[in-house]
Parts: sequence; C-alpha cells; structure tokens
Amino acid sequence: MKQFTSVSDVTDLSAFVEQAIRLKADPFAFSGLGRNKTLGLIFLNPSLRTRLSTQKAAANLGMHVMVMNIDKEGWALEMKDHAIMNGSTVEHIRDAAAVIGKYCDIVGLRSFPGLKNREEDYSEEILKKFIRYVNVPVISLESATLHPLQSFADLISIEENRKSKKPKVVLTWAPHIKPLPQAVANSFAEWMTKAEMNLVITHPKGYDLDTKYTGNAAVSYKQEEALKDADFVYVKNWSSYFDYGKILSAGKGWMLTNKKLEQTNRAKVMHCLPVRRGLELSHEILDGKQSLVLQQAENRVYAAQTVLKTLLENLSSKK
Ligand code: CP
Repeated sequence: MKQFTSVSDVTDLSAFVEQAIRLKADPFAFSGLGRNKTLGLIFLNPSLRTRLSTQKAAANLGMHVMVMNIDKEGWALEMKDHAIMNGSTVEHIRDAAAVIGKYCDIVGLRSFPGLKNREEDYSEEILKKFIRYVNVPVISLESATLHPLQSFADLISIEENRKSKKPKVVLTWAPHIKPLPQAVANSFAEWMTKAEMNLVITHPKGYDLDTKYTGNAAVSYKQEEALKDADFVYVKNWSSYFDYGKILSAGKGWMLTNKKLEQTNRAKVMHCLPVRRGLELSHEILDGKQSLVLQQAENRVYAAQTVLKTLLENLSSKK
C-alpha cells in the first residue's frame, strides 16, 4: 500500500480488519516501528475524531506528529495551475505540499467539497494535487468524495458485533439543516460492498448517491420497509448528488427512533459523529444499548494505526 485514499488501496480487506482487531488488543506491540518518523496532519476543515484518533494511533507506533489547521494557520492557498497570483491567495498548493513533504515521512490531508460544483468536487482536485506534489505517502483524513478511515473503523465495529457471516446493513439518510457532503455515505457503501455485506440504502427521492460507490446495493425510498430485519443501521445525512449540494426535503419523519427499530433484528445503530441530537438521531437511541457510536469512534484509533503501520512497514522495506 503506497497511500490510503479509498478502499481500493487495500489489497486484503479481511486481513486488514483482523490486523486492526489485533492492534486494539495490544496497541503498543509495534511502539518502535515509527521511531524517528514524522506524521503531518493537515486540516483544511474542522475535526475532532480524525485529528485525535490519528494522533493517538501515531503515538502508539512511536511516531512524532505535527498538526496544522492550514485553513486558519497557514497562508491562503492557491489551487489553480498556472494562476497569476495577484489576488487573495498567497501560497500555491504545489509549493506548500512540497515543503510539507520535506518535513514529514507520511502526511494526512482533510479537504471537504465546496458542494457548489459536482465535477470539480468529484475530480478530487485538491487531494490529487497534494499527492502529486508532497512526494511522501498520503492518508485521506476525508476528501471531497470519501472518508476511508471512518469506513474502516465502521467495518471493524461491524466485525466486532456481527452474529452472521453476511449481516443486513441499512444505510439510512437522516434529516439535517445544512447541506453535508456525500463522502461518508459514498465511502460506507464502497466498504460494505467490498466486504460483501447485504447492503440496503434508504433515503427520500432525490438523494440517490453515485452508483460508482453504491454498486449493486438495493435502494429503497421507504425507510420502514428497508429497516425490516436489519442487523446494523447506519444513520447519516447527505445533500443531493444529482441536484448537487442541495437540501431537497426537511426529512420530516426520517429520524430513527426506538419505535422504528422494533422491526429490525435488534439492530445496532451507527453514526460517524458529530451528530445533531434530536434532529439526525434521537437521544433515546444515542444513549441506548443498541448504539455503537462510541465503539466506532474508539475504533478510529485502530483503523488509523493499521494504515500507519502498513505504510511504515512499506517505507522500511524500501531502505
Ligand atoms: N467522524 C469524523 O470524521 O469526525 P471528525 O470530523 O470530528 O474528525
């Protein structure tokens, strides 16, 4: 593995999950692997879990970590090639990334979509440019279209709780007051498909995701029908992909409640967090026994640690 930006970078998914579960049982087993290696975490957008869990994962492996909220602490970045920089931007991503690569052995980047121009966002221009110029392995800390570290932690959490080989996993859209990216939903669908789960996606009309990520997953516009016999219910809001970046419906009636869970197979409920309580997901579920949200957040450490360990071993083998 040379980088970690999607599930396609993982060659053996089951082995990857098993490795994460082993690291969770013995987090300091490889505490010398990252000695004298530096991880840079570069954020263009806010974060709690990704930032702290990846820092902890790197510390467990003995790495140094540098974190920069480049949107607030750095120079205003220019993204366009051959720009005449006589406006508000001060530093080109080409120069910034190349410099960061001189200080770090591995770099993570968080870069959300603008949600104004689908082609631009789905081209992953910022992530791709960063990878091109940084010249060291890159980990996506959530890009415009995908959130692979989150999906990996989600898959670990499902592995820890599943009672059958191929559980029914329902990804359900939830209401929100702001337009959110499709990245978590795209990524979750991609990882569940690769892990050969029985995936059903449910959302109001107009919120269909790009089939590039959802593959052959069943799609239903009727949440209650979709929830029947579910083993896991993953709750997430996303804005429209086809009417790009728009909120098309207030989603009245789409918030998951204990009543709705009655038709599931005592499903475990998942959410990547942060969550707007009482809007996206009910208090009763978040604070109830069927919630996996804290376990998912905890597993972010071991997802990141598995990725870092694999990249560090790859660097060592090149010496
Ligand atoms: N789930 C997640 O990525 O959380 P943060 O945005 O806080 O990192």
